[in-house]
Amino acid sequence: MSRGRIPWLWLVAFVLFVYLTGLYQYAFTWSYSEYYTDWGPTHPLQPLIRQYKAGGEYIQVRPVNTFDYPYKYTCAEKCSSKESIRLMYVVKSAIKNFDKRMGIRNSWGFEKRFSDVEIKTVFILGLSDGDNHVQKLVDKENEEQKDIIQASFLDSYMNNSIKTMMGLHWTYHYCQNVKYFLFVDDDYYVSTRNILRFLRKPEHYPQYLEKHVVQAVNEYQDDLYAGYMFHGARPIRWVFSRWYISLDVYPYSEWPPYITGGAYVLSRKSLEELYVSCIYTYSIPFDDVFLGMVAKKAGIKQLHHKEFYYYKRLYDVEGYKWVIASHGFDDPKELQRVWSEQRSAGNA
Ligand SMILES: *[C@@H]1O[C@H](CO)[C@@H](O)[C@H](O)[C@H]1NC(C)=O
Repeated sequence: MSRGRIPWLWLVAFVLFVYLTGLYQYAFTWSYSEYYTDWGPTHPLQPLIRQYKAGGEYIQVRPVNTFDYPYKYTCAEKCSSKESIRLMYVVKSAIKNFDKRMGIRNSWGFEKRFSDVEIKTVFILGLSDGDNHVQKLVDKENEEQKDIIQASFLDSYMNNSIKTMMGLHWTYHYCQNVKYFLFVDDDYYVSTRNILRFLRKPEHYPQYLEKHVVQAVNEYQDDLYAGYMFHGARPIRWVFSRWYISLDVYPYSEWPPYITGGAYVLSRKSLEELYVSCIYTYSIPFDDVFLGMVAKKAGIKQLHHKEFYYYKRLYDVEGYKWVIASHGFDDPKELQRVWSEQRSAGNA
């Protein structure tokens, strides 16, 4: 080989590499700040929200993204009482995670945690892949626990966005009397005490509790959408990544700000706006980014709070004092141990 050829081959190899791995796409993104407006058709959303809430049958504009998988279990009695429910846990659970659901019912999902606060817990599931045995167990579980919402789409990781949509659809239609919803995955630790404290003064939690005089007034914050927020995150153009997204699907250089999907709170009003906005937003495979787009479109302010941990906060008794939610509790025994300890310490 002559000496001149070698750099040339390297160049070809480099170009091929950049092309095949998708990295070249970084060079062709559109500036988010200059070009991003709305994801999906742009219509003034407020009139649509009003029409939808008034009955929804005469909506002028056709939705682009609807949830139309029939329900197998709607658990309609969960919200049938006249009483107002202060907090509802809507737990996104994988169908096979029977033990995690049990761990949650026996810890933070326990509905009678406080005698004077109405709390409810439901689990949302898809269908198993032709596995009758699993479905039988779910049937039995629902008979005993009466807290399963199930709809007829395949329960798989890739269908996560459908499940998120389902959570919004179900709560929108079945739970008018709930003040706040916590949407949360089944591998989280949650402190019921802290979320209730947070809801009293979301912007001032936990500092307001450290003052000497604690006023226990419940300020109802009707436009709340809170969790751990990412700002200026960039789409990944590396084809081997689990979060790869091509330029064809999403051409912009950044994602809109979004709240991580593992745990977030919504007030009933924000939920309604988010739901209606979401049926006018094109679906994308990342459910939390999707909700960020939806919130932006609806003009809903997202509130960042660091006590929603999207990773696992290292455990120690004192360190969990103000934790509202933490990811990474795959083992139900560990969850129950941590929760009991925190409850004894007055933090859960
Ligand atoms: C998602 O659910 C639909 C409806 O059941 C199914 O046809 C599809 O294969 C599922 N997708 C994945 C990736 O599991």
